[in-house]
Amino acid sequence: MITNARLVNYIHSLEPDQSEILEAVRKEALAADVPIIRDETAALLKCLIRIINPKRILEIGAAVGYSALIMAEVMPESATILTVESYEPRIREARRNFMHSPYHDRITLVEGDAGELLRRLTEEKQNFDFIFLDAAKAQYPLWLPYLMRLMRPGAVLVSDNILQEGSIIESRYQIARRDRTIHARMREYLYTLKHTEGLETAIVPIGDGISISTRYQEDNNKIEIGL
Ligand SMILES: C[S@@+](CC[C@H](N)C(=O)[O-])C[C@H]1O[C@@H](n2cnc3c(N)ncnc32)[C@H](O)[C@@H]1O
Repeated sequence: MITNARLVNYIHSLEPDQSEILEAVRKEALAADVPIIRDETAALLKCLIRIINPKRILEIGAAVGYSALIMAEVMPESATILTVESYEPRIREARRNFMHSPYHDRITLVEGDAGELLRRLTEEKQNFDFIFLDAAKAQYPLWLPYLMRLMRPGAVLVSDNILQEGSIIESRYQIARRDRTIHARMREYLYTLKHTEGLETAIVPIGDGISISTRYQEDNNKIEIGL
């Protein structure tokens, strides 16, 4: 996490204007206190999509569709996005935002629990070139075996909010009781990302902290699902 506010403001000031639709979705989301990715995270996401040129993108945590639309703007023309959201008011909003965008036929929104979706996609042996993970943080370590199975070799997994506003470095006793599960699970997630054979991971301290992982193992049957 970059903690120098002036530096972050400077980085933001370099961002060119967004498309009208993205700016409208962003403004509405911020006005309604919907948590959406930060500008510097969006810039990195766009850059990665341009480098990887993914055909199939999976997003976990659509909210009102802002980050999906960001990815859609820079993905190849033949690419598709599958995204999932469980909170009804946001589902409605995301559907509306997708419908009003030029990408409505290339973004599929699944309504419901991401864990169930991950189990189904894994059973169907689907795979993706790029996964953006941005939902219930405490679920990250539980979802990781599924995510790994869904990554074709060479695929990239980007996980958001991994540094938890910096609190990730505090001892458990410095953390409010209600946040201790998330704190412990996120530490477990980061440790696993860095120590799992078949994954190469960098932890990048921008925004609220993101990790970028790529899968290099050829045989995904070696990936154990312990749930
Ligand atoms: C941080 S927001 C996503 C923001 C979005 N990626 C963006 O930047 O535009 C996280 C979203 O994940 C959703 N979510 C949390 N747990 C979920 C689950 N188990 N299944 C589906 N959606 C979930 C929340 O309702 C919330 O809208």
